[in-house]
Amino acid sequence: MPTNDDPGARICIDFGTATSKASLCLPERDGAPAADLVHPLQIGAVVDEANPYLVQSALVFDREHERVFFGGRAMARARSGETASVPLVSFKTFLAARDLNDTLTSRLLRTIDITGRFQQRDALVLYTAYLTRLVERAVLRDQRLHPRLLTRPRRFAYPRWRPGSAANVYLAGVFDQAAAIAAALGDALLDPAGVDLAAARAALDAARTQPGDGLIEGAVFEARAAAECHLAFGGETPEHVLVFDMGAGTTDITAVRRTPIGYKRHAWHEIEGLRATMALACDEVDRLMIARFIERADSKRSKAALDRFWRRLSLHSRPLKEALFRDGFCEAEFEGRKITLRSQDLFKDRTFVQFQRALAAAYQDALTRVARTAAADGADAIGVILAGGGSNLTFVQQMARNTRPSVSRIRRIDLRPVVPSWAQGPDFDGAFRDIFPQIAISIGGAVAAMTPMEFTV
Ligand SMILES: Nc1ncnc2c1ncn2[C@@H]1O[C@H](COP(=O)(O)OP(=O)(O)OP(=O)(O)O)[C@@H](O)[C@H]1O
Ligand SMILES: [Mg+2]
Repeated sequence: MPTNDDPGARICIDFGTATSKASLCLPERDGAPAADLVHPLQIGAVVDEANPYLVQSALVFDREHERVFFGGRAMARARSGETASVPLVSFKTFLAARDLNDTLTSRLLRTIDITGRFQQRDALVLYTAYLTRLVERAVLRDQRLHPRLLTRPRRFAYPRWRPGSAANVYLAGVFDQAAAIAAALGDALLDPAGVDLAAARAALDAARTQPGDGLIEGAVFEARAAAECHLAFGGETPEHVLVFDMGAGTTDITAVRRTPIGYKRHAWHEIEGLRATMALACDEVDRLMIARFIERADSKRSKAALDRFWRRLSLHSRPLKEALFRDGFCEAEFEGRKITLRSQDLFKDRTFVQFQRALAAAYQDALTRVARTAAADGADAIGVILAGGGSNLTFVQQMARNTRPSVSRIRRIDLRPVVPSWAQGPDFDGAFRDIFPQIAISIGGAVAAMTPMEFTV
């Protein structure tokens, strides 16, 4: 029987705009290597996602077959043409709404749910139930983890949507309802043939009147979680570190400062007033890339043909964009003709240039503000951590390499490797290292020592 059933263990679920992740971390023990403490959960492997650690944040309400599909299977379903329903993606951003209640109780668009039976909040709860079940399965199939770890308190990672914590309090409630649904439907949630829509509706209604316990003890700001992940296991870094976490829906920024807490011991504290969240992130790059493709399609073609093209591009946009940045080009077919888009086509585009400028201005501003704090503390260097899937983008890496703060005292910017040395060892598998910037937030959320302000429930 595995012995890893420490009461201090925590799971952090990172419900991402594009992909969701979860990690379990055990509390530090003297001399224990990171690989014994950090357990990224293979939630993707449970349902044969492309990457064992990632699950796509997507749903399809298949109206032809009266089933709801989750994750990569939802996208595959939509691509197969077996349903005309449009997949629901990036729905985490419902939580960014100005009027939360209004948005969450609105019905889903008819193109997504023709039956009109589901509200936007239902999508959040159903998908979270799916994630909850995946976390359970992933822990149970990991020989090194004790099943009792599933009873420990959990956290989730959050962006700073708006002042106040209404969205976080709401999300904690979503986890409670999701727990009831995960218990009621069990592995039926993971059925490759999807879940019956009537059963999903009934489970949602039951969970609203009788929620379960999602075990959520609190929430951790995404950029702070990224800092915790990179800095938890030591390594030489300047005393002040800027964190830039560019995900799909949001870019989250913060900075931390090292403070001594005893002989040869220190802790990382967040520098107040530096948190920021912007909606300038990878989804915007997808939108701009799709717009370039549409521009290049034959404009004399019917609107219906262009709509079909737009829909197909939307279903493939993330892998297309990843190919564009990896190979320098990507291709899509329109009415029997191949359209090639080169990275230069995107980089030259006026709207993309504006996007990049806005991102660079926010980065410069954050860097300068950290630099001022560092200079006031007598330091002459600052560290920079890049996290989130956007940190793979070449222009983001170049921006981080080339930007200098306008504070003369700061002479050195230490851009940290996207995979810290503690995670590069042979004890961690290659698939984990490949997506490290994306999974870093769930790891950091699980290792973070929580300050009272991080608690939302
Ligand atoms: N190698 C890569 N090249 C280009 N883009 C990439 C690469 N790897 C990941 N991405 C992009 O990163 C994004 C996903 O990143 P991440 O998982 O950090 O976002 P998220 O957590 O889902 O979003 P958010 O934090 O905003 O809720 C997707 O848009 C994905 O296409
Ligand atoms: Mg994220």
